[in-house]
Parts: sequence; C-alpha cells; structure tokens
Amino acid sequence: MDGFDPMASFGEETAAIYDDEPRGDEAAAVAFLERLAPPPGPALELAVGTGRIALPLAARGVRVDGVDQSAAMVARLRAKPGGNAIGVTMGDFADVPVEGRYPLVYLVFNTIFNLLTQDDQVRCFANVAEHLTDDGSFVVEAAVPSSLYRLRDDQYVDAEAVGVAEVTLDVGRFDPVTQLLDETHVVLAPEGVRLYPIVTRYAWPSELDLMARLAGLRLTQRWGGWEGEPFTGASRLHVSVYGR
Ligand SMILES: C[S@@+](CC[C@H](N)C(=O)[O-])C[C@H]1O[C@@H](n2cnc3c(N)ncnc32)[C@H](O)[C@@H]1O
Repeated sequence: MDGFDPMASFGEETAAIYDDEPRGDEAAAVAFLERLAPPPGPALELAVGTGRIALPLAARGVRVDGVDQSAAMVARLRAKPGGNAIGVTMGDFADVPVEGRYPLVYLVFNTIFNLLTQDDQVRCFANVAEHLTDDGSFVVEAAVPSSLYRLRDDQYVDAEAVGVAEVTLDVGRFDPVTQLLDETHVVLAPEGVRLYPIVTRYAWPSELDLMARLAGLRLTQRWGGWEGEPFTGASRLHVSVYGR
C-alpha cells in the first residue's frame, strides 16, 4: 500500500480505540497459556500491545514480559491497573530483543502477519528459538488465510458495522505473489470519513510450520481455538504450539 507506515498503524488513534470492543477470547487464551507456563512463569508476549492478554495472565501470578514498537499502545498498557508490572522492551518483535530464556513465548491475534516479508517471519521464529528454554513452547494464534480475506478477484468489501450514525466497511486487496493484504477499515459518519489502514502478510499454517522447522522447532499441538477445538478444514483460526 503506497505510503503505508507500519509504525503509524498502531499510533495514537488506533491505540485510543483498541480496547473499546474486547475480542472475547481473553479468558480462554489466558487459561491455555497458563497451562504452558504456570505461575510464576515467566512468559514473553511478542507484540504485547495494550496488555489485553498480558495483564490477565499476569493477574494469575505469571510474570509476563513484552515486546512492542508502539509507544501509544504501551502507554495504554501502562495506564491500566497492573500495567507497570509488565516489563516491556521497545523494539521489533522479529528481533526478540530481550535477555534470557522463557518456558513460554506467545504471539496472538494474527500478529505474526504484521511482519511483511517471509524473511522477517522466518527471522522471528529463529530468534524465538534462541529465547526458549529446552522444554519451552512458542504459541502462535493466527487466522487461516482462506477464512480471513474472503476474496473475490483478490479483493473484498465487508460491512463490518452498520449503525444509524456510523457505518464501518472493511476494504481489502490481496496480492497472491507477495501474500500481502492491503486493508483499510473505513468509518463513515456525518462528521466525515476516517481510515485505519493496515498491511499484513498472510501465511498458511503449513508455511509457519516450515519456519518453525528452520528454527529447530516442531509443531507439538494445533487446535482450532483456545478451548481446544479440533483443527479442521472449516477452522477459521489456529492455535499452534511449537517446541524443540
Ligand atoms: C493486533 S495488536 C495485538 C496486541 C496484543 N497482542 C493483543 O492481542 O491485543 C498488534 C500489536 O503488534 C505491534 N507490532 C506490530 N508490528 C510490530 C513489530 N514489528 N514489532 C513490535 N511490535 C509490533 C503493534 O504495535 C500492536 O501493539
């Protein structure tokens, strides 16, 4: 997408509304993650954001560290109760710029796809492997591409929310060569139009599995959701666990 700035996509404007509508999977995700890193942990969340998962996991007694590159998102985390207890390193999560090893590293809500090249996604897996304990787990939760971009002719327009005073459209265009999805949430309201652009690089679960193998990891579990739903051809997302 011409002019797209990844640093801006989670700037002040997005951070301000990020927690307005919880995704709804928080309790199930925390229960799943806590089983892999019982208190006291520690666990490392790549792209920790506003602490949607990190804070409730920390509240269970797990020490949670995080990495993120958005000052605006991390400021929201800091402003929440318990937010100062999360040790956040500012930087690119593909670098995993932290010290030490963790029994659990996790990356949820499709965020592996925020790395826009295959090389960066591969580098992320390699760096995670360097920071896992011998029996540690790397959990990736991401959409199955076919369920997400609902493509006709590599593009779509979805009516995301339709209200009396406001309509939100999700508009996307996909390039099957680069696997890049250029997407904008378009908010139409009497006061004007607001755009929330984001670019992501989708990968099938099988491609992520190969990235893990390049990093010396292998798939140990795959589920269709945080509740341990079976992963099938109809699954819209996968929760994948990688270990040595
Ligand atoms: C969809 S939010 C997810 C936040 C949190 N994990 C959650 O589940 O609510 C994506 C987050 O990834 C961060 N992010 C995106 N690309 C990044 C990168 N290359 N390095 C560090 N953080 C990144 C953004 O700043 C944002 O906080």
